[in-house]
Amino acid sequence: MKRIVAAALTLVVSFSLLTACGQGDETTGEVLIVGTNAEFPPFEYIGDSGEPEGFDIALINAIADKLGMEIQIENLEFASLVGAIGTKIDVAIAGMTIEEERLEMVDFSNPYYEALQYVIVPAGSDIATAADLEGKTIGVQLGTTGDFIVQDEIAGATPAQFNKPVDAVNDLLNGRVDCVILDQNPAQVFADQYSDELVALDGTQFGFAMEYYAIALPKGDTELADQINGALKEIIEDGTFDELVQTYIEQ
Ligand code: ARG
Repeated sequence: MKRIVAAALTLVVSFSLLTACGQGDETTGEVLIVGTNAEFPPFEYIGDSGEPEGFDIALINAIADKLGMEIQIENLEFASLVGAIGTKIDVAIAGMTIEEERLEMVDFSNPYYEALQYVIVPAGSDIATAADLEGKTIGVQLGTTGDFIVQDEIAGATPAQFNKPVDAVNDLLNGRVDCVILDQNPAQVFADQYSDELVALDGTQFGFAMEYYAIALPKGDTELADQINGALKEIIEDGTFDELVQTYIEQ
């Protein structure tokens, strides 16, 4: 709360400064600390610069620009993001699905992307339906919706949990897991890297539900939520959002 009051004050002050100078880079100087987990291409990954890059990073930068804020990215383990909001980080953007248990701890922005879990299998595998997943050892990223599906929805299946999806994929290549459940776009990126050995199967054939990515926010901080939702709406309306989709997801 205090931070937001300070932000509002800074906005007023910098607005008058800007008006006084008649121009300038509109920044309140406020730093929004953004948590991510840069193991999830094309949404977030470590780029050639050695820093997190990807669709989500570009999106939160565009949002911060609209709000005149600076951002600082913290690359954390995915499973620790929700708990870090309000302490280590202000918000999290990480291809994070709006999900009931998370809603007990954090709020979410309006959704910005529709997603589905995919199943990565070895080429030639006969896994094709939900029944084929029963009793299997399934690689997942710890604490993700893919992990929850394996634990809650697939009879007799054992999740092999990894902090990084790429490690689940490596275990699939080595034959230590039967398949990997991962969100569509990252699943396709990884399967494409090993197109002779792996195939990413559409989750609809397994009956998985649609998921919606949103930015995780501190619970009850409606001012920040309104600011972020407002900026997101502008970014969608002015075409920036589609440009980012073209640049990062549909290239
Ligand atoms: N959408 C899934 C979830 O919310 C997976 C997200 C993983 N994101 C990441 N940056 N590793 O659980």
